Amino acid sequence: MTHRNIVVLTGAGISAESGVPTFRGADGLWEGHRFEDVATPEAFARDPELVQRFYNLRRAALSTVQPNAAHHALAELAARWEGDFLLVTQNVDDLHDRAHADPLPGMGFELIHMHGELLKGRCTRTGLVSDWPGDMAAHEPSPDHPDGWMRPHIVWFGEMPLHMDRIERALAACDLFVSIGTSGAVYPAAGFVDLARRAGARTVEINLEPSLGAGLFDEGLYGPATEVVPGFFAAL
Ligand code: OAD
Repeated sequence: MTHRNIVVLTGAGISAESGVPTFRGADGLWEGHRFEDVATPEAFARDPELVQRFYNLRRAALSTVQPNAAHHALAELAARWEGDFLLVTQNVDDLHDRAHADPLPGMGFELIHMHGELLKGRCTRTGLVSDWPGDMAAHEPSPDHPDGWMRPHIVWFGEMPLHMDRIERALAACDLFVSIGTSGAVYPAAGFVDLARRAGARTVEINLEPSLGAGLFDEGLYGPATEVVPGFFAAL
C-alpha cells in the first residue's frame, strides 16, 4: 500500500515509557487531583496557587525524562517522508520536539501541540505566548502587559484546542491516519479517526490495549509504543 499524506495523532501513551504518567489511571485521578481542581479556567480563578504548583511540578519533571524509541521513529519518518506529514500531539511535554531536533525534520513536516505546551506561558490579557522554562508564581506578572498575568499555555477543560482548522484540513487530505497511545476519551481528538475515514484514509490504532474507539479503525496494533511504533513506520 502506498501513502503520500500522513496524519499521526499521539497521546500520553507514547510518553509513558519515558516516565511521563498518563492521565486516566485506575483510580480516576490525575496525579492525585480531580481534573476540575487543576485543569479548568474556574480552578485557576479559584485557586491559582494550586494550579500553578501542579503545572510547575510537571514542567520541572520534564528535565528528568527523555524521548523514547517511538518519538525517535516519528522523527526519522519526518526526516525522510516526501509527502505531507502532520504530527498532532495531545501531549504538553516536549518529547516530540526534542526527538525532532536531530535529525532535522523534512520539508513537508509539521508538529502541532493541540493541548498546549508545558514550557510555554500565556498572557491572560493579550494572549501572547512566550517560552517559560521555569516556575510560574500564583500571580505572575506578564512581561507583555502591565495589567496581565501569566497562565500555563495549556488547553483546559471547556477551552478550545489549538489549530483545529489546520488539523481538519490535513485530515481531509490524508491517506493514512495513525493514532498512538491515546484512550479516545477526549474530543475533538477522539473524532479525528472519523474525519480521516471520511477522507478515505487507511486508519490504524497503536496502543497498549484497544481504546474506546478501537472499532472505528481499520487496523489495531497492540503493545508498548516503543516496540510497535518503530517497526510500523520503518515498513512504510
Ligand atoms: P490517557 O491517559 O487518557 O490514555 C493513555 C492511553 O495510552 C491509554 O489508552 C493506555 O492504554 C495507552 N498506553 C499506556 N502506556 C502505553 C504504552 N507504553 N504504549 C502504548 N500505549 C500506552 O491519555 P490521552 O488519551 O492522551 O488533555 O488523554 C487525552 C487528554 O486527556 C490529554 O491530552 C489531557 C487529558 O485531559 C488536556 O490536558 C487538555
